Amino acid sequence: MSVGGGEDVRDRAISFRAWKASDVPSVARLHREGLRGSFLPELGIRFLETMYELLWATPEVFGFVAEEEGSVAGFICCTVSRKATDRTLRRRKILLLGKALPALLRRPARIVRLLSGGGYAKKPHKTEAELLAVVVRDEKRSRGIGRGLLQLSREEFRRREVDDYCVVVAEENIRAVRFYEKNGLVRQAVVEVFGRPMVELYERLGEGSGPEKEERETRDA
Ligand SMILES: CC(C)(COP(=O)(O)OP(=O)(O)OC[C@H]1O[C@@H](n2cnc3c(N)ncnc32)[C@H](O)[C@@H]1OP(=O)(O)O)[C@@H](O)C(=O)NCCC(=O)NCCS
Repeated sequence: MSVGGGEDVRDRAISFRAWKASDVPSVARLHREGLRGSFLPELGIRFLETMYELLWATPEVFGFVAEEEGSVAGFICCTVSRKATDRTLRRRKILLLGKALPALLRRPARIVRLLSGGGYAKKPHKTEAELLAVVVRDEKRSRGIGRGLLQLSREEFRRREVDDYCVVVAEENIRAVRFYEKNGLVRQAVVEVFGRPMVELYERLGEGSGPEKEERETRDA
């Protein structure tokens, strides 16, 4: 399926579409490379592949990829219900633990972190809908691909009648925090996940509070 969106990408060589099962290996690799230093990539590529296979098959989850010259340059993955998504992953925890086994044996402390969800599940949720991950390949950044993927996700959230969504990102990931803020998400709180301070940001859809609202207001003025 080819989808619209990504209007801000000036480079016509880039196309956007809903993710397919066959994108899972590329998505897992991009997650590992783009979010190096965060906890999940430490659990290995097999773990990430299995996690994305499960997410791909979860009805509450949707994703898009950006493609250039036949290869995946970026992806975004969102859920309309974090609780439902966590339940799906918990049901398959033996499978996931098995995939993470080599990494867990190397550092057993990771088992506790993995099973506890890093305290994430206990955090007060303002909304159930969540942007789970967005990654653009290093050499493809700053060309509007991230913004295009985010725009497609907003449209899909709206189509699924979601009024607002959140994203949780490491506080030290200044580039990503700035990316979200530039795109209209609003900083709400700092929470600790897997021992790291994370910024929680929200965007209200519906009436809209981000760049689209500004565009509408400029148009209507
Ligand atoms: C955060 C991330 C997804 C942004 O992706 P991106 O494709 O670079 O995002 P965009 O191109 O839309 O915006 C980034 C910058 O490019 C600029 N830009 C956007 N479109 C542009 C265009 N057509 N031409 C030139 N510059 C452009 C934006 O103004 C923005 O500028 P800034 O860096 O000064 O804020 C990317 O940096 C990434 O993959 N990071 C690692 C993974 C990560 O941290 N993900 C978030 C946590 S899940």
